[in-house]
Amino acid sequence: MAEELTQENPEIPETPEAVLEDAADADGDEPVKQRKNGLYPGVSDELAENMKSGWADTELHDLEPIAQAAETAARRAALSARFPGERLVIPAGNLKTRSNDTEYSFRASVEYAYLTGNQTEDGVLVLEPKGDGHTATIYLLPRSDRENGEFWLSGQGELWVGRRHSLTEAGKLYGIPASDVRELAANLREATGPVRVVRGHDAGIEAALTDKVTAERDEELRVFLSEARLVKDEFEIGELQKAVDSTVRGFEDVVKVLDKAEATSERYIEGTFFLRARVEGNDVGYGSICAAGPHACTLHWVRNDGPVRSGDLLLLDAGVETHTYYTADVTRTLPVNGRYSELQKKIYDAVYDAQEAGIAAVQPGAKYRDFHDASQRVLAARLVEWGLVEGPVERVLELGLQRRWTLHGTGHMLGMDVHDCAAARVETYVDGTLEPGMVLTVEPGLYFQADDLTVPEEYRGIGVRIEDDILVTADGNRNLSAGLPRRSDEVEEWMAALKG
Ligand code: GLY
Ligand code: MN
Ligand code: MN
Repeated sequence: MAEELTQENPEIPETPEAVLEDAADADGDEPVKQRKNGLYPGVSDELAENMKSGWADTELHDLEPIAQAAETAARRAALSARFPGERLVIPAGNLKTRSNDTEYSFRASVEYAYLTGNQTEDGVLVLEPKGDGHTATIYLLPRSDRENGEFWLSGQGELWVGRRHSLTEAGKLYGIPASDVRELAANLREATGPVRVVRGHDAGIEAALTDKVTAERDEELRVFLSEARLVKDEFEIGELQKAVDSTVRGFEDVVKVLDKAEATSERYIEGTFFLRARVEGNDVGYGSICAAGPHACTLHWVRNDGPVRSGDLLLLDAGVETHTYYTADVTRTLPVNGRYSELQKKIYDAVYDAQEAGIAAVQPGAKYRDFHDASQRVLAARLVEWGLVEGPVERVLELGLQRRWTLHGTGHMLGMDVHDCAAARVETYVDGTLEPGMVLTVEPGLYFQADDLTVPEEYRGIGVRIEDDILVTADGNRNLSAGLPRRSDEVEEWMAALKG
């Protein structure tokens, strides 16, 4: 990573052209201007000329389309059919500054990635109405120009950020003709006819359309693209299985190093899982929850800076995201020392039974809410049985009293987002019906807060969640994360085998 050599000169040139002009002005010992995010102490005419040539032609001619090209084409066709005669603009989004000239790692909008398979910052997919349908164009930054110095003097130059695909290469890979994105905003400003944009990703593109779009119509586009993802195609199911398989290996990695985590902190667990995610996938699909002891009762514990102690439980909720952005979302609650105590086992087994009931309710044609209700009923019954809440169970469920300890919904759709299809309407999602191809988590839990005076002291600080990723099939369901044991005795055996 380059550092700025000096901060003395406030007139920092923004463009390669400006740098070259400054360089031309520079003579002898005069101070010279700095490259915006680098450290060039001026550029002589000779160097500028020298850098223009002597580079090999690296155009790639034998590119095959990406593996999901047929699926992305089908998705675009469905979108086209829903909005005939309208121009549709789907941006990938832009880099976000972390500090000065460093950026957060980029993740393209799921709408863009879903429709193109591409993940490049500043990319924009445009569907242009034509005849009964649309023509698609993917707008991207082309390869860096060597003639104007851009490739080595601009922050977006390939020498700094890596080689991009040429527009011709991108067209072959994604099966969509590609054009220069630098011309898109002006084109959109001039364009006539109805248009919609997916908001929230690219302020520049939205500004170009500001007089032509309405929030309500744009929201319809976003909702359509969220609901389109409710049912996964074969490619997506394969990717989700890959994500889960990597996640299983990540959990195994963690069990193998629990002694190191005990000697350090929950961070060791986070780092261990992250290594698997980065080596086999793109990233983690969400911040790993590595919650030991009472931290398990904090639902989204991602600080992960606490101790890991023998005798405590470790709630690990983590998922690998594939290179195509599909994520797993799996939780296991493990005894740090390999054996559940009697009380831990009692609570764990109740959550297991609730999860079994929930998974059994995941069936094509079932209401989405059924699996939640089935799990909650089991948990409410146990809480009554243990004397923690006054029955009967019907009363508890009616008043929702079990929720003091069950806290959250029993699952959600899973896909490119961990909480997938979040913009889908209530009638198609939460009040909807399960269909083959849907993938959802089933993740009941029981959490006894450390300061909960309504439960016996020995319960306090115990939190258990078990979470699996379930595919709805034509005749039932398939647990994509069945590679990880769930029953308490099987978890203990699995841990013993891994720890050797
Ligand atoms: N990992 C977040 C969730 O389980 O929903
Ligand atoms: Mn989840
Ligand atoms: Mn989870």
